[in-house]
Amino acid sequence: MNTYILGIESSCDETSAAVLNGTRLCSNIIASQKVHEKYGGVVPELASRAHQQNIIPVIDTAIKEANINKNELQAVAFTRGPGLLGSLLVGTSFAKAFSMAMDIPMVEVDHMDAHILAHFITDEQHKKVPEFPFLCLTVSGGHTQIVLVKDYFDMNIIGQTIDDAAGETFDKAAKIMGLPYPGGPVIDKLAQQGDPFAFQFAEPRIPDLNYSFSGLKTSILYFLRDELKKDEQFIEKHKANLCASIQHTIVDLLMKKLILASKQTGIRQVAIAGGVSANSGLHQAMQQAAAENKWEIYIPKLSYSTDNAAMIAVAGYFKYKQNLFADHNTTPYARQSIKK
Ligand code: KG4
Ligand code: ZN
Repeated sequence: MNTYILGIESSCDETSAAVLNGTRLCSNIIASQKVHEKYGGVVPELASRAHQQNIIPVIDTAIKEANINKNELQAVAFTRGPGLLGSLLVGTSFAKAFSMAMDIPMVEVDHMDAHILAHFITDEQHKKVPEFPFLCLTVSGGHTQIVLVKDYFDMNIIGQTIDDAAGETFDKAAKIMGLPYPGGPVIDKLAQQGDPFAFQFAEPRIPDLNYSFSGLKTSILYFLRDELKKDEQFIEKHKANLCASIQHTIVDLLMKKLILASKQTGIRQVAIAGGVSANSGLHQAMQQAAAENKWEIYIPKLSYSTDNAAMIAVAGYFKYKQNLFADHNTTPYARQSIKK
């Protein structure tokens, strides 16, 4: 039997809509907002305006590309939070209106749960899914967490950043070097031609499974300030080596705690999720850790790692099966829900 779910994602600067049949992908449309590039970061007011312009054409395209009629949809799943409130309101309001007009239930989804549940989307190339329990390093622009995933909606955060997120660190390092936003993919590309051991930066000593990235950011800032005093062309001359060294430092910090988490819990099924999980240095480090620690690893494909609605639809599908529906008074939340 078909179970068509429409997913809507509008938490930050991507307007996305997807249709899934159960866990199987039928379409996943992502409209990235270019308007923020010249500001070097997401401007909330511009983001909500762009969502308003994009949402109807994006949803229309997702339904057409899935080759179904909108009457065949059984539920609409939407991101309730965390994210930018104005942006979340656009997706939430659309979901409410659509649910009423089509007389179908709506399902609220937590954005961070959805990044993890993206591993359960199946398509032609992707059929292998993790088994419970598994560990997931969730690394995005706003979050850095090690999550113990016991079931679809039974997750515990066992480690997290006490200050900046990993994605934020990539973005800030790029900004310091005068590279465009978002910095993560730019650093990743340049790093491929550089030496990861060319420069060393201060590594934090944070206990347990927690992270800290603010010291690294300051260390990069001071290092470049000092070098630029001696040679104002320093960044230009050493761009690839700087990117490779910064990326290596961030990945190394992420992996050390992830390996520790696996040792402490005895869990060797290990996944990564979120925008930073697109990073090629992190992919290599995961392959290496898998070989050394006998891990079974799960790396999402690019279109499921950065923000997308397919992950919202798959999380929505699992809730739909359990009859976990939202009511029409539901309002978005900006910060991660307190359930964890
Ligand atoms: O999950 P995401 O798309 O949005 C949030 O929920 O935050 O993550 C965005 C973050 C940005 O900080 C971006 O620079 C980073 O993911 N990112 C990367 C790469 N692609 C995206 N960081 C490192 N390497 C990449 N290839
Ligand atoms: Zn995200």
